[in-house]
Amino acid sequence: MKQTVHLQTTAVHGTAVHGNINQRVPKSSHALVTPIMQTSTYIFADSADLRAYKAAQAEGKPIEGRYQYGRYGNPTIRAVEERLTALEGGEDGLLFPSGMAAISTTLLSLLSSGDHIVHTDDSYGKTREICAVFLPRFGVEATMVPMGDYEAMEAAVRPNTRLILSESPTNPYIRVIDMERVVAIAKKHELLTVIDSTFATPINQRPLSFGIDLVIHSATKYLGGHNDLLAGAVIGDGELIALIKDHRGMLGSISDPNSAYLLERGLKTLGLRVQQHNKNGAEIARYLDQHPRIESVWHPSLPSHPDYTIAQAQMDGFGGVVSFEVKVDDSATPEAVASSIMDKFRIAQNSPSLGGTETLLMQPSIAVYYALTPAECAAMGVKGNLIRYAAGVEETADLLADLEQALEK
Ligand SMILES: Cc1ncc(COP(=O)(O)O)c(C=O)c1O
Repeated sequence: MKQTVHLQTTAVHGTAVHGNINQRVPKSSHALVTPIMQTSTYIFADSADLRAYKAAQAEGKPIEGRYQYGRYGNPTIRAVEERLTALEGGEDGLLFPSGMAAISTTLLSLLSSGDHIVHTDDSYGKTREICAVFLPRFGVEATMVPMGDYEAMEAAVRPNTRLILSESPTNPYIRVIDMERVVAIAKKHELLTVIDSTFATPINQRPLSFGIDLVIHSATKYLGGHNDLLAGAVIGDGELIALIKDHRGMLGSISDPNSAYLLERGLKTLGLRVQQHNKNGAEIARYLDQHPRIESVWHPSLPSHPDYTIAQAQMDGFGGVVSFEVKVDDSATPEAVASSIMDKFRIAQNSPSLGGTETLLMQPSIAVYYALTPAECAAMGVKGNLIRYAAGVEETADLLADLEQALEK
């Protein structure tokens, strides 16, 4: 899909604006907004109608707007898939009931027993668990390499390696991968590349434009944007998406029309919201960076961030998530010091998500790694005094004031 207008206009109008405005296909009852098509199945006028549908499908030319059964597709879901595909500049895209459903269905579709993958270390805990625990049960091995170590990434490639998987920016340290370097390694060894771009959104970065094969989102976060839905998406190469679509139909991991409706509604303000998330993230990071109670801060807008240079080159903004470690002394454990600060926030709330209108805070050593000892947690790269701050779209001055009072001794 050729991008002919700016991303925020595509976010509002979907693919309609890529053609002639007078040729827009009218929606049911000429509604402006995509209706929620709440149906599990579709009817055919007669056997000839069904045969024509099946014949077109077999030829790889499905009839536009026709569906057979809800597990294979739905018009409300399709409208969002097309909008996301246009935003990411892909050939096609699919919607899933959660980000994890998008990741697991993609990996199960692309990998077979005996295959191997390479993935980067700083990433969402459940994605790491899929690689370390779930895939090996099906004979797929995974090698985890340190984020930003491209020599280690290439050295990990084996004859049976199929793909490289990474988040960018990552969770929780907001690390940014050099996509051109990853694509160069993948091309040399004939590997697929998959980037989880949840923390960026297509407003801040478009991985497909760097030659990445598939981009994944937890649409639960910025894309939905209002902390009121769960969804996931995969967008990219048409042939890969067709393969994943077949598996989605088999595994049953399709979204539902109500979530798709909410997601489309959320997408209409994506550009506006992301602007405010970016502003809040950068200003919070700058404030924390000079605060005497803060040990270290991670946000790609800061020159001290390890990926500052590549982030500036590759991204248009850096999002609202800022991770920081608070200074500790001998009076309490690192986790207790961070918890005492967490509990003083009045606007930001303790909750394990990000990317929505409300500012949320999370202490990973409790929320994600509660079962681990402090030493095991540190081995995962997460200290007890780490806080992940996910700025919402509130007024920046109010968030800064909330932060200031929470950090008061
Ligand atoms: C980077 C990233 N990817 C994927 C997921 C999983 O998404 P979901 O919760 O929609 O399954 C998350 C969830 O926090 C995430 O942060």
